[in-house]
Amino acid sequence: MKIALAADHAGFELKRAVIERLEAAGHQVLDLGTDSDQSVDYPEYAVRAARLVAAGEADRGVLFCGTGLGMCITANKVAGIRAVGPCDVYQAEMSRRHNDANVLCLGQRVLAEDTVFDILDVWLETPFDGGRHQRRLGAIAELEENWQTAE
Ligand code: RB5
Repeated sequence: MKIALAADHAGFELKRAVIERLEAAGHQVLDLGTDSDQSVDYPEYAVRAARLVAAGEADRGVLFCGTGLGMCITANKVAGIRAVGPCDVYQAEMSRRHNDANVLCLGQRVLAEDTVFDILDVWLETPFDGGRHQRRLGAIAELEENWQTAE
C-alpha cells in the first residue's frame, strides 16, 4: 500500500518507529513531516496527509500527535476522510470492517509502542465488510454535502 504519514512534535518519534515497520513490511511510505520536537501545529500536518488520501494519491493515512485527537478532528474535516483513533485492536478491526476507515490517528503520549503496532497491523490487513455498512457510509458522504438540511 501507499501510506501517507504525518505527525506534530508530540508524535514524530512514534511516526519514525511506524515508518520503519511499514517499510520492513514492503509498504510505500510518504513522510509528510514533522521530524523534530520543535513545536508545530497539528492541523497543518493532518491536512497534508488527508488531502493525499482524499485525492486517491495515497491508499491510507496514518497521523500522530500527543493524543491522536487533534489529528483525528482535523482529518475528518476533509471530505471523503473517515479518520479514527482506536485505542485497541478490536476498535481498529471494526473501524475497517464497518466504517472503512481510511486514516488512522495514534497518540504517542497514550499508547504503548506494542499496542500501536498491533493496532496498525490489524487496521492495514482488515477489509471493509460492505453491505449494509456501505449504505451508512453513503449517509455520511451525503452529510458532508448537505449537513445543514439533511435529516
Ligand atoms: C501538543 O501538545 C498536543 O496538543 C497535540 O500533539 C495533540 O495531542 C492534540 O490533539
